[in-house]
Order: sequence, then C-alpha cells, then structure tokens
Amino acid sequence: MVRSGSWDVSEVTGAELYDTLSSLVVPRPIALVSTVSREGIQNLAPFSFFMLGGTNPPSVCFSPVVGPQGEKDSLRNAEQTGEVCINGVHRSVVHGANQASAPVDSSTSEWDLGELSPVPCDLIKPWRVLQSPFSFECKLVDVLRHGTAPGAARYVVCEILRVHVASPTSLPSARLGGRDYLDLDALEIFELGRPE
Ligand SMILES: Cc1cc2nc3c(=O)[nH]c(=O)nc-3n(C[C@H](O)[C@H](O)[C@H](O)COP(=O)(O)O)c2cc1C
Repeated sequence: MVRSGSWDVSEVTGAELYDTLSSLVVPRPIALVSTVSREGIQNLAPFSFFMLGGTNPPSVCFSPVVGPQGEKDSLRNAEQTGEVCINGVHRSVVHGANQASAPVDSSTSEWDLGELSPVPCDLIKPWRVLQSPFSFECKLVDVLRHGTAPGAARYVVCEILRVHVASPTSLPSARLGGRDYLDLDALEIFELGRPE
C-alpha cells in the first residue's frame, strides 16, 4: 500500500516505507546477479534496486539490502572475490530469477533449482545465464554501506569489463510494487509471488 500525503520517514514503519518507496520508484529493471563464494559455490539472486551508473568506464550499481539474517550472500561473495556477473531478465527468465530469490542456505547453489542454464564467463569465475538477453562480466569497484538495520542499503558498484548480448531487440521485464511486474516487450502487467 502506498502511503499518500506528506510525512517524515520517522513517522512510518519499515514495512510501510518498503511498500511505498518500492511502489513509487518504478519500473525497476532486474539484475540477476551471479557471484561465487571463496569456497567455489556459485550463487544467483535477483536485485531490482539496480541502475546503470556511467559508460566511461561503464559501471552499474545494485543494492542487496541488509536482511533479517544480516548481509546477503551476493554482497559477501562480491567482496571476497571482486567478481560479479549481471544478467538481464526478460519474461522467459523472470520465473527462474524469482525462484533464485528463495532464502536458501549459503552452502546451496540457486543454480541447482535447474530452471536457468549456466555458461562459463570469459574473464571471471561466476557463471552467466544462457537464457538472459544480456550479461555483463564485471569487477567490483566499491561498496557503500548506508545504515545497519534490516532494509539498510549496500550499494555495490561494479565496472563492466565484457558484454554478451543475445537479443538486442527484446525488452526486459521490470519490477513494479508488490507482486506486480511489467513485461516491456508485451506491455503487459503480470503478478508473481515470491517462492516459499
Ligand atoms: C524480482 C526481485 C527483485 C529483488 N530485488 C532485491 C533488491 O534489490 N535488494 C535486495 O536486497 N533483495 C532483493 N530481492 C530479494 C533477494 O533476491 C533475496 O533476498 C535473495 O535471497 C538474496 O540472495 P543472496 O543471499 O544469495 O544474495 C529481490 C527479489 C526478487 C524476486
């Protein structure tokens, strides 16, 4: 639910802030982020707090916010290895991306869910997603930590080193508020619930 009117953020609960802000800043493209742990476990997770930051050098930023259990695996892996692969999400990838958001143990790879196929990257160890319209092989530039509570931002800035473009003409699916997504190719809004 979007809270209307004028208010200070201190008057509003964390859940209301999430619902309101994530329904206002839309549509958000989704970065399907692939990383690998120091132990070699391949990790995959979607992030819609995501933007292109510059093109010379080319860079992107995504934010794995602090969760109830603390910082997320994607952030830890990126900091430990310095390597990140950002995969684009269009309609045929969105279900697999959503499945990859399940809160699995860090010793388990989301790739084992089996919906998306891995392809080795050329420069970095994380795999890229075969079905994605594009993939960026990146190195970590910086992490900016803003706050400590659940929901606090972790801005992960990545420099793009190598680009793979499979379907330049197809448009992605983007996150709206709540369970809603926008298929920019079909100009259609659809719903997807988070996995158990
Ligand atoms: C479409 C979609 C977008 C998401 N965007 C974000 C996001 O921007 N930031 C975030 O912290 N979590 C986001 N999530 C939830 C994470 O994907 C989820 O917490 C995931 O388990 C993190 O995985 P990790 O611990 O392997 O990094 C999103 C989930 C979905 C389905």
